[in-house]
Amino acid sequence: MARPAPSPLLLLVVLAGALAGGGEAALLKAHFYRPSCPAAEAVVRDIVVARVAADPAALPARLLRLFFHDCFVRGCDASVLIDSMAGNTAEKDAGPNGSLGGLDVIDTAKAVLEAVCPGVVSCADIVALAARDAMHTQFGRDLWDVQLGRRDGVVSSASEALSNIPSPSDNFTTLEAKFASKGLDVKDLVILSGTYISSQHR
Ligand code: HEM
Repeated sequence: MARPAPSPLLLLVVLAGALAGGGEAALLKAHFYRPSCPAAEAVVRDIVVARVAADPAALPARLLRLFFHDCFVRGCDASVLIDSMAGNTAEKDAGPNGSLGGLDVIDTAKAVLEAVCPGVVSCADIVALAARDAMHTQFGRDLWDVQLGRRDGVVSSASEALSNIPSPSDNFTTLEAKFASKGLDVKDLVILSGTYISSQHR
């Protein structure tokens, strides 16, 4: 049976809309790096396009999921990328994040951007751009605008990831509360869950 290609579409439209509506959104702006690092968006897009070409079946959805899991914990601040240290188990090592993929794509983009514009482009913005660009590879166009200027977080807690990221064992009341805490309503929850289930049973 043919893969139902639109499955990530509903996810990202709702997710992107919710994120754009967040309190931080007012501080972000389009083409934030144009004066400070004009190549930033092109660098991320070129890397994503090249990496997706090598892994077209899995990587686009993984980059989208990485953005989702980052944003559900402390906002879209790249806290999901922080490594655990002595005395702190980071988000990355929480159960729901054990199967994340695409982190190496973010690492590559960050390394290239550090060479081009040291200390300018945040990992949080790279994660946001990579999700948009990954979907661009699937749909041939940008499906949402990415406002930029996020700052990277410095706090990353596995327990916060566990309590914020929806679990397959959550009941409806808990899912509703978790989504509401991110500005998502029941309609968003139904669309996201249905799309998620269909994507898992393709
Ligand atoms: C509605 C609540 C959600 C729950 C309970 C949930 C739960 C899960 C679980 C249990 C997995 C399997 C993980 C594993 O294999 O270890 C998974 C995979 C996945 N989820 Fe979600 N998820 C939800 C929403 C979302 C959303 C909103 C997105 C995208 C924005 C998303 C994207 C994905 C993707 C792409 C995978 C497959 C990853 C891969 O194969 O590499 N999920 N999810």
